[in-house]
Amino acid sequence: MGAAYLLLLAFWGAPDPGRFFDQRIAPILTKRCLGCHNHDLNDGGIAFDNRDSLLKGGRHGAVIMPGKPEQSFLLEAVRHKGDVRMPPGSPLPAKEIKLLREWIAAGAQWGSKLRR
Ligand code: HEC
Repeated sequence: MGAAYLLLLAFWGAPDPGRFFDQRIAPILTKRCLGCHNHDLNDGGIAFDNRDSLLKGGRHGAVIMPGKPEQSFLLEAVRHKGDVRMPPGSPLPAKEIKLLREWIAAGAQWGSKLRR
């Protein structure tokens, strides 16, 4: 790793997990989940505008377990395999499920969108 690389890194900044959330994850949650799971409606006892509420979870326990996608109830729900199938109706496109999985695997960092 040369000096030019370090300079570039300093200039552009290291990959920013907050930006990944804001650009890739927040739009999915907003479009697909937030209509029902928000601060006012709180369907299932969880709100997708609040990371703490997802960590705490609802009836089925934690919705996200940072770093552990396969133990995260969110993935079970969006895969439409168990008795909770989210969103209700047709399942998310595989691409979006994959992004959600990556996000949780990388620690489920929050950005500045969807913060209240
Ligand atoms: C049309 C409204 C609606 C939409 C859209 C929706 N949900 Fe839900 N969701 C609900 C309701 C109502 C419940 C409670 C169902 C129950 O407890 O049996 C629920 C429950 C859940 C639970 C279980 C909480 C618990 O512990 O019991 C999870 C996880 C969940 N939703 C995730 C999602 C995700 C992720 C999305 C977006 C991809 C989503 N939901 C979109 C209405 C919705």
